[in-house]
Amino acid sequence: MPHKVTLIPGDGIGSEITGAVVRIIEAAGVDIEWESYIAGAEALSRFGDPLPTDVLESIKRNKVALKGPLTTPVGTGFASVNVRLRKTLDLYANLRPVSNLPGLITPFPDVDLVVVRENTEDLYSGLEHIVVPGVVESLKIITEKASTRIARFAFEYARSEGRKKVTAIHKANIMKLSDGLFLDCFRKVATEYPDIQADDKIVDNACMQLVMKPQQFDILLLENLYGDIISDLAAGLVGGLGVVPGANIGELGSVFEAVHGSAPDIAGKNLANPTAMLQSAVMMLRHLGERSAADLIARAIIYTLDEKKIRTRDLGGTAHTTEYTEAVVHSMQELSA
Ligand code: NAI
Repeated sequence: MPHKVTLIPGDGIGSEITGAVVRIIEAAGVDIEWESYIAGAEALSRFGDPLPTDVLESIKRNKVALKGPLTTPVGTGFASVNVRLRKTLDLYANLRPVSNLPGLITPFPDVDLVVVRENTEDLYSGLEHIVVPGVVESLKIITEKASTRIARFAFEYARSEGRKKVTAIHKANIMKLSDGLFLDCFRKVATEYPDIQADDKIVDNACMQLVMKPQQFDILLLENLYGDIISDLAAGLVGGLGVVPGANIGELGSVFEAVHGSAPDIAGKNLANPTAMLQSAVMMLRHLGERSAADLIARAIIYTLDEKKIRTRDLGGTAHTTEYTEAVVHSMQELSA
């Protein structure tokens, strides 16, 4: 029986990188029946809604989706489709493993951390209003329920992946009630996991520590906004947005996607690096129980980048998206010969 997976190619570079991933997964011999749906800017212009109901229904039915980036206009226009998707399906945990890829020269060796971000509330609740002209209020929502749930997710993930420490990142010295509640929930949940170390850091200090000694971190647990920002910072430690994967996980399903956006500056030019999307697909294959194909693709990525030195432009190489994709397919064939 093939796995049924919802595929959302997305905006900008989305179709180039998801096309690459579908090609590589097929070459790895995994039987997937893709249900492809349009969402984002194109869906808005064609159907009047950037997140049509049939996309959500498909994800609920299949419980697994691979999603390309979706454009959100800055300041005006429709609300973020990504935020809407995560909230509608209650994909409460955003998981972003960040580690060095062999052969990529980056400022730091031995980075191996995981960002766990709460995905459903905080300043991303979309509750903004004009109080009087010239004064705007944005509401930061933090609940005991969501904070406890994400803290438990982080500790459970630590246990299942053999990780040693969870560090909560917050600004409870200033936002005493909201971040204070997030921290309290974290500390309470931590008592249930005596086998995992638990500590916390104020977000500004955490930023400095991350760019001075990132190796000290294992799992970082953050609210939505800090998690969004720190994910990109962490991606920058290991080679940038083109290489870091992600997953949005909830009870109703899991949506796998790269950390980066739709990269409009390089869209349609065959320049995008599909590695981040491919690494997200590797996470997806593990989730589907396709461990050997996942391992083969993961090894082929490293072989292509490190041994063959075939890299896209963002990693200092000259390969186009399609050349790099075929190189990964060849690497898989060589490794399994
Ligand atoms: P971005 O991540 O799209 O691009 C930032 C920079 O990184 C650009 O120079 C881009 O060319 C480069 N880059 C990103 N991914 C790359 C890849 N795979 N290969 C090579 N270079 C890559 O961030 P930006 O420009 O701030 O956002 C563009 C749009 O994407 C916005 O509408 C934003 O809302 C949306 N976005 C969507 C996300 C999602 O769907 N999960 C996440 C982040 C942003």
